Amino acid sequence: MQFRDLKTQYQDLKPEIDKAIIEVATNCNFINGQQVKDIEKELAEYVGVKHCITCANGTDALSMAMMAWEIGEGDAVFVPDFTFFSSGEIVSHAGATPIFVDVDKSTFNIDAQCLEKQIKSVMKEGKLKPKAIIAVDLFGLPADFNAVRKIASTYDLLVLEDGAQGFGGQIDDRKACSFGDISTTSFFPAKPLGCYGDGGAVFTNDDEFARILDSIRVHGKGEMKYDNVRIGLNSRLDTIQAAILSIKLRAFVEYELKNINDAAKKYTQCLDGIVKTPEIPKEYYSSWAQYTIQLEDKAARDKLQSTLKMEGIPSMIYYPKPMHRQKAFKNQEYTDEDFSNTVSLCDTVLSLPIHPYISDQDIEQVVMIIKGM
Ligand SMILES: Cc1ncc(COP(=O)(O)O)c(C=O)c1O
Repeated sequence: MQFRDLKTQYQDLKPEIDKAIIEVATNCNFINGQQVKDIEKELAEYVGVKHCITCANGTDALSMAMMAWEIGEGDAVFVPDFTFFSSGEIVSHAGATPIFVDVDKSTFNIDAQCLEKQIKSVMKEGKLKPKAIIAVDLFGLPADFNAVRKIASTYDLLVLEDGAQGFGGQIDDRKACSFGDISTTSFFPAKPLGCYGDGGAVFTNDDEFARILDSIRVHGKGEMKYDNVRIGLNSRLDTIQAAILSIKLRAFVEYELKNINDAAKKYTQCLDGIVKTPEIPKEYYSSWAQYTIQLEDKAARDKLQSTLKMEGIPSMIYYPKPMHRQKAFKNQEYTDEDFSNTVSLCDTVLSLPIHPYISDQDIEQVVMIIKGM
């Protein structure tokens, strides 16, 4: 069984994908081809924002937001404690300080009360200037943007939506990657919408942010590439990746997103009352980057993972370590007390195989093993 079955997906789309790759190879428009402009238009339309600026990966996409907002030394950026390392790494990389915030135990996303507490504590201490909130759409579920935006406007902070895992999610009729002042995503192959290598994108409705982001991704270009008005990056989405993404976006919209939601529903129906299944709040829609259950304790989680492994079923622990415990952030003095939910989640979560091509029999096999524990 595959954790995320990219091979079946390729076989399904093979004629179109092969044709698209060969077309780029034939035309040799590897960099900045028309396909890059086309996918930016398609992605902006799908998400429902004015601008999409593609780039080399989801980490660069986040960094580009930090650069566009000129966030740096002396600034505080609030980041969930339970996320992939990138979400905090890019803050330190910009020279600013990531202030970690505990998450909600049911949604895995940033907890609004803890966020406000951390903002007040930074303000009280007076050493750093609060500048932005990074809200992550973890495992495909949009963060609580109603609460996050309210807090952001109270304290005059920018909102960066890290939608690396969230593409395709929704709150009411609004799509993920439209909730931030700037939002980002990743096209890493295993993401809800993945390409065949690295890729990423930045989304915004703000014309001025879009103009700056477009400059940043090409060495801080001004009027043209050899007129450089700011320090930037070389962060492009290859034409081949753009061509592949166009085909995969169509499949994503036409059936993949629905299929993965059906798979998640089946897991939840079968596992309800047996383990803690993921909670999707009313009016929310997930794109199921992961289907993550919670066990009673670490021993039960580790035992289930090794039993699944013995049966040839892959599972993953996202994430085994809170951000505040990462050695890379050891200069910041955190204690576990402020992060009780994250600390407990790291010991109890287990992500099960899920993808748009998973069969009912595969789900039933996983469920049977869990029920037998
Ligand atoms: C929440 C989150 N943010 C950022 C990233 C970074 O994306 P990339 O691997 O494309 O740089 C990832 C990728 O795993 C992620 O899960």
